[in-house]
Amino acid sequence: MGSVMAMAYSPDDLEPIERASRDEIATLQLQRLQWTLRHTYDNVNAFRDKCLAVGVHPDDMKTLSDLAKFPFMTKTDLRDHYPFGLFAVPREQLTRLHASSGTTGKPVVAGYTKQDLVNWAQVVARSLRAAGVRAGDMVHNAYGYGMFTGGLGAHYGIEQAGCCVVPMSGGQTEKQVQQIIDFRPDCIMVTPSYALVIAEAFERLGIAADEISLRVGIFGAEPWGEGMRAEIERRLGIDAVDIYGLTEVIGPGVASECVETKDGPVIWEDHFYPEIIDPVTGEVLEDGQEGELVFTSLTKEAFPVIRFRTRDLTRLLPPTARSFRRIGKITGRSDDMLIIRGVNVFPTQIEEQILRDTRLGGTYQLVLTREGPLDNLEVRCELQRHAGNFTGSERDAVAQALTQRIKTSVGISVAVTLLDVDTIPRTLIGKAKRVIDERKIQ
Ligand code: DLL
Repeated sequence: MGSVMAMAYSPDDLEPIERASRDEIATLQLQRLQWTLRHTYDNVNAFRDKCLAVGVHPDDMKTLSDLAKFPFMTKTDLRDHYPFGLFAVPREQLTRLHASSGTTGKPVVAGYTKQDLVNWAQVVARSLRAAGVRAGDMVHNAYGYGMFTGGLGAHYGIEQAGCCVVPMSGGQTEKQVQQIIDFRPDCIMVTPSYALVIAEAFERLGIAADEISLRVGIFGAEPWGEGMRAEIERRLGIDAVDIYGLTEVIGPGVASECVETKDGPVIWEDHFYPEIIDPVTGEVLEDGQEGELVFTSLTKEAFPVIRFRTRDLTRLLPPTARSFRRIGKITGRSDDMLIIRGVNVFPTQIEEQILRDTRLGGTYQLVLTREGPLDNLEVRCELQRHAGNFTGSERDAVAQALTQRIKTSVGISVAVTLLDVDTIPRTLIGKAKRVIDERKIQ
């Protein structure tokens, strides 16, 4: 073994913290939690006010379990302080912004300092190594670039891992496939549903799985299960691993799966402190119990989050391939957010667009189906009573205008079906069931 090589830093090595003892991890977490609470208390008025209201102070954080005394942060807090009200640094210290869907028109905005971006690239690079990707590999990045955290978040992590990034972004399936054929990347990063669209395109060209250069895929941004893993692995001839993350906490790379075990994303617990709570009572649950995942950031400067309620339902699993705990599959949400073709959508965002047209009544229904790998959303809405005798072309105009508004404001293509008044079934208390989700996590 060449000693110089062995001593030199290799990006392929595990970082020491990935194999540290649980005591060492807990010590680091406590230190970082104390720093985060102090930093947020001193710089974010809304957090300080909430702490004062319940009589808790950063000095009360003496052991990890003391975190439970601190107030939760929710999407509503983000909406109330849109766009930068929860940032803990002045805007001159920001290096980048990203955004994701809010519950209504205003998105959730995340800000990053230079150091935040360094840390983010590092956790994504760690995720790539966990997937078996090595320095020198080429990675085809088909997560969307732009305000979505997927594209740029993956991008800088790929570079940080010593790999070559192909910054393809989403869409243009034929071009995606041609580039994979021509450039022969080792890894692909993309949503699992779009991975199947790409697989289909390869099949149409008559290219077999074993002829595709890809060795591994890192899939996330939407729920997927073992059935889909098996299908992607078979059709692309790769190992498929799961990457989890969310804009508020940082983006992709909060947790990511190890290829050798494929037993759930490992939480990068030196940067993100997880809790599972009962979504109704807010009480902290034991590891292993199913509930809502909550995160506190440990190193974020610009936009620290304290006990952020992700609304994702899952459980915490014990460490296996790394010293950190893992999350199980996301089994659902404790709010009504839908993920449609990788885009987060709240029914209220669509409702907002329906209510802007006086020809439409407020009653609507969202029907989600899956056609092949892709999600379809049908928006069924009732016309106002006075619009009941509209001609066919008048109805088409209403439907087209709504389709267009939803495309522009929410970012997804939908099929609008107009119905006469009182045709959508109401429950006994007069409410229509808003969402009919006929998709199943495979
Ligand atoms: O989806 C970040 C991301 C990009 C993760 C690329 C992985 C890969 P948001 O747009 O804020 O951020 O959506 C976050 O998506 O709360 C979950 O409900 C869902 N989600 C993300 N990853 C997974 C996953 C990005 N691996 C929301 N499994 C989260 C299940 C996921 N759901």
